[in-house]
Amino acid sequence: MSASPPPSEFSAGARTDYQRKVLAAWEDTGRNNSAAARILGIHRSTLRTIIARIKQRAREAQAKGLEQEAWDDKDKNGGASGTAKAKVGFEQAAGKGDVKFSYDGPLDRPMPIEELLEINGVSLETLQIEKVKVSAWGVTAKIKEYQETTGRDGQPWTVPTKQYLQAAKNYGIQVWLKDRETDPGAAFDAAVDRLVDKIRECPPPPKWNAQVMTGAFIAEAEKRMLEISITDLHVGKLARSNITGLHDWDSKIASSACLQAARYLLEWGAIRGFGQIVLPVGNDFFHTDTVRQNTTDGDHTLHTDVLWQDEFDIGCDVAIDLLDLCRQYAPVYAPWVPGNHDKQRSKAMTRVLHERYRNDDTVEVDNGSDKFKAYRWGTNLLGYCHGKDEPFQKLPLEMSTRWPKDFAECRWKEWHVGHGHRMKNCGLVVDGFEDQSLRVRMLPSLCASDEWHSDNCYHNLRSAEAYVWHQETAYDGHKPFNLDFVQ
Ligand SMILES: [Fe+2]
Repeated sequence: MSASPPPSEFSAGARTDYQRKVLAAWEDTGRNNSAAARILGIHRSTLRTIIARIKQRAREAQAKGLEQEAWDDKDKNGGASGTAKAKVGFEQAAGKGDVKFSYDGPLDRPMPIEELLEINGVSLETLQIEKVKVSAWGVTAKIKEYQETTGRDGQPWTVPTKQYLQAAKNYGIQVWLKDRETDPGAAFDAAVDRLVDKIRECPPPPKWNAQVMTGAFIAEAEKRMLEISITDLHVGKLARSNITGLHDWDSKIASSACLQAARYLLEWGAIRGFGQIVLPVGNDFFHTDTVRQNTTDGDHTLHTDVLWQDEFDIGCDVAIDLLDLCRQYAPVYAPWVPGNHDKQRSKAMTRVLHERYRNDDTVEVDNGSDKFKAYRWGTNLLGYCHGKDEPFQKLPLEMSTRWPKDFAECRWKEWHVGHGHRMKNCGLVVDGFEDQSLRVRMLPSLCASDEWHSDNCYHNLRSAEAYVWHQETAYDGHKPFNLDFVQ
């Protein structure tokens, strides 16, 4: 076992356990060399040698750090030398929170800032270093050496043997501190770290029965139908923002917006899953219907960006791309819904589409000449017409007249019309029972207002929409694609 350090003024000179043991015995015996030597079982001369060495080392340590007397060659600080103990100033500027922190004294090296702050109890958690100034100057130290001897009374006696001057260097350190600035980013990171620590301390959540949930989700997906409503696309229509003050529109923009909306809405529906797609085609898919670029029954020439032949070809290409895209997700039913702008042209297009997908089981193009179309999905009955000439008040009875069996069996019935270029829910009620009500929705359009519509203040929020229908629980929500908000 190591000897306990003796309570001696020479403790700094005892560097080993044995030296501390010798020093302790020497002190315990009242510094009696003979008694201490007997206790330790060593010769007196040996003990004297050890004690002298301990004293010498203690004095060296003392002279180096504590008892060195030095004075400034340059009369620094009024001629006073650095003191034996670190002279530390710690000043608090009133009202500012700034702190000036300084040290003047003899050292063989500049005191590290961290050490300087630590010995004075300054924490950098609340303060931060603003400025540091280090200065150095030469000094002359007076060194004294001593020797241990025995006095005439036989007692130990320490006498000075040598004194000389030695060049040294003093260092001055000044540190300016101020209140630590709050870094919002660091504070946020710290808050996140604390939150993460708390979360890690929470008990684990109950085990998730993923297999059961996944199975139920897949089963429900097959019961859902996604309706993609891109009405009133008006391919070929020309609108220029410098004239209308709003948006550009032409055949290229129409083609791009149509496919962009379809991709967006399909991906939205795919998150929940569906087993069928309904994609009405027509509904003013084309802007004009004649070689003179008129509407079907109109007699004034409309503004278009392409010739009527090109308008038809571009429209067919877009429709084919649209159907090809949709059939990658689920089987498609595409009913033709003639518009007031494109009754002939859209009929011709659906004939093209019908032929293209004649042998494709995933696409059914219904180009029957009846302007009214319906699609039943479970308990949902959906009717389609353009909405220009059909009185909305007659549509509920029209549905029951045209499809009486489906009308009776389905609990959720809606008409979806276009023409108005804006979303509008007419909310027609067949009778007083909520579960037998019928809705007529006017669906929005992606296209921009042309000069005539703009001059007459006809504008719309440009959108396409997708609806989800569940075979048993009916209407399951819808999603808009807002063209004006797409980057
Ligand atoms: Fe239209």
